[in-house]
Amino acid sequence: MFISFEGTEGVGKSTLIRGVADHLQAQGIDFIVTREPGGTPLAEQIRGLLLTPDGEKIAPSCELLLLFAARAQHLSQVIEPALSRGQWVLCDRFVDASYAYQCGGRDLPTTQVQALVEQFVSVLPSKTFWLDAPVEIGMARAGKRSALDRFEQERHEFFERVRAVYAARAAAEPQRIVKLDATLAAEEVLAFAIKGM
Ligand code: TMP
Repeated sequence: MFISFEGTEGVGKSTLIRGVADHLQAQGIDFIVTREPGGTPLAEQIRGLLLTPDGEKIAPSCELLLLFAARAQHLSQVIEPALSRGQWVLCDRFVDASYAYQCGGRDLPTTQVQALVEQFVSVLPSKTFWLDAPVEIGMARAGKRSALDRFEQERHEFFERVRAVYAARAAAEPQRIVKLDATLAAEEVLAFAIKGM
């Protein structure tokens, strides 16, 4: 199984991933937990470039290509080997995030992400948990953490566009994308996720 976890900032992805990991461990299932952008030393360096606010404005197309460069490395070094060893992969974000953030948030054409997925993505998640909450709730939670990263500094409207793309993708692929109400208590969200697995 290849499972990804998606949602706008502050919706509780990390808590849900920990809960699912504990559940798999209790079942004796062999798995890895990884994340995007990142998951290998090189891809984590690219993550640093993407998330650390700097003086230089990053062009949306540059952001997109850096994300897919990190993804190519992550796939070849971590995800593909784990799946071929028979391990489950729990991944904090995957290609749905590129559609949501780069096409929704940054307004890049969907065809650009589709082309990169076709060319460079060898395997897609069989299940995706989309944690959904009103943008202001997530932003308030994310704002309580330390310094805001380059994405978290975006405006409310940006995250509304991101959320709208997640909603459209979930409606188009209801078998794969399980929508979870992130305003519920963490234990309830976890119970729904386990049911939806
Ligand atoms: P996170 O690990 O806290 O979710 O931060 C990762 C950030 O990277 C998040 O703001 C969303 C962004 N991102 C994209 O814009 N596109 C992508 O394809 C991925 C994987 C992440």
